[in-house]
Amino acid sequence: VQVTFVDVNGVERRVDGGSEDQSLMELAKANGIDGIAADCGGACSCATCLVHIDPDWTERTGQPDDIEFAMLDMVADVATVSSRLACQIRLSGALDGLRVVVAQQ
Ligand code: FES
Repeated sequence: VQVTFVDVNGVERRVDGGSEDQSLMELAKANGIDGIAADCGGACSCATCLVHIDPDWTERTGQPDDIEFAMLDMVADVATVSSRLACQIRLSGALDGLRVVVAQQ
């Protein structure tokens, strides 16, 4: 899966890799993308993996479930309608070409 990340410093990087049992957060961590702390390790309880999904892609990344939605609400000052927790997005072929912007927190 090829994903373009714009890190917290505004640096854009395209990374290739990951597998369908991984999350977008894990792909970012594996590639050292700045600004993805992922303090809780993907348990949907820290919101330090917040990213903004390009609006053209939100249909393919899907909607947050109730638990993720509650976490997004806690960071409502920086989240937008297209924000997601990267640990809650599973990589799949459908996401090939995805572009995400790491949130400033
Ligand atoms: Fe903590 Fe995603 S890694 S909420």
